[in-house]
Amino acid sequence: MIVITGATGNIGRALTGRLHGHGHDTLAVVRRPADDLGSPYAPADFDEPRTIGALLSPGDRLFLNSGIWPGFVDAHRAVIDLAAEAGVAQIVAVSVRDAAPGARLGMGMHGLIDAHLRKSGVPYAILQPSGFMQTLPRDFHDGTMYGSYGHTPVNYIDTRDIADVAAALLTSPVGPGRDYLLTGPPSLSHSAIAGQVAEVLGREVRYVNLSVPEMAAHLERQGIPQPFAGELAELQAETGDGSWAPTTGVVEEVTGRAPRTWQAFLTDHKHAFA
Ligand SMILES: NC(=O)c1ccc[n+]([C@@H]2O[C@H](COP(=O)([O-])OP(=O)(O)OC[C@H]3O[C@@H](n4cnc5c(N)ncnc54)[C@H](OP(=O)(O)O)[C@@H]3O)[C@@H](O)[C@H]2O)c1
Repeated sequence: MIVITGATGNIGRALTGRLHGHGHDTLAVVRRPADDLGSPYAPADFDEPRTIGALLSPGDRLFLNSGIWPGFVDAHRAVIDLAAEAGVAQIVAVSVRDAAPGARLGMGMHGLIDAHLRKSGVPYAILQPSGFMQTLPRDFHDGTMYGSYGHTPVNYIDTRDIADVAAALLTSPVGPGRDYLLTGPPSLSHSAIAGQVAEVLGREVRYVNLSVPEMAAHLERQGIPQPFAGELAELQAETGDGSWAPTTGVVEEVTGRAPRTWQAFLTDHKHAFA
């Protein structure tokens, strides 16, 4: 059985559809009924880790993923421990590029979980992707995206490629524990990304670069409280310093094909920007 947490999210939905569609025995872990997933599902919540542990049996493969909230690190570490107790054969976990204990925001939280997983004794694959193309539409308002990324290229990946990598790893023989740095097509500056969005939408779209304090103030005006707004603005500047520009060949290595292009993503998600 392949047990899929975060099954209603960007990656989980694509993964569940792909695995179930190819006849694999899947169980989607959900917080509310999800008949549209097309897979058997069971209710459970990371806030009560034992509800997820109770769904695991010896030999299962577990896809470990969810959104982030304050209890995220403890909940994921508890589920990893329960998976070890249950005799799970493999955990494929979603982390983030440059995850490390002590790093900023989600990168620090994922760093703690990744470290716990590596020591758990359960065979693992830790997926460390660049930023998600699928979350970009929410950053464009009235044709404008504000950010403190600067003007250097930053890498983004289509979450369907992350799902494809996870599907390949969950359905092939379990390999040695490894981190997978997953990147998308060649990196673009945010102005160039706005230009691509404009081309697909057929109207003016622009990226406006702000300094870190300006971006923090902008986020506060959007309702994001301090210190989170400041951290987020700093994080954008850090990922925009060139460190998130290099790409890897890992998606192609695992799936046998190149990552989806910006054009493929924008064509399929045009409606989300409208
Ligand atoms: N956004 C980015 O650019 C980026 C980049 C790199 C890594 N990441 C990482 O990617 C992960 C998010 O992946 P995603 O985009 O596929 O997810 P997503 O679309 O944000 O969906 C989150 C999923 O987690 C589930 N979930 C949240 N809290 C839960 C809980 N307490 N118990 C059970 N399920 C819960 C949600 O269920 P409901 O439907 O019930 O809410 C949903 O299925 C995060 O770990 C994030 O750090 C994100």
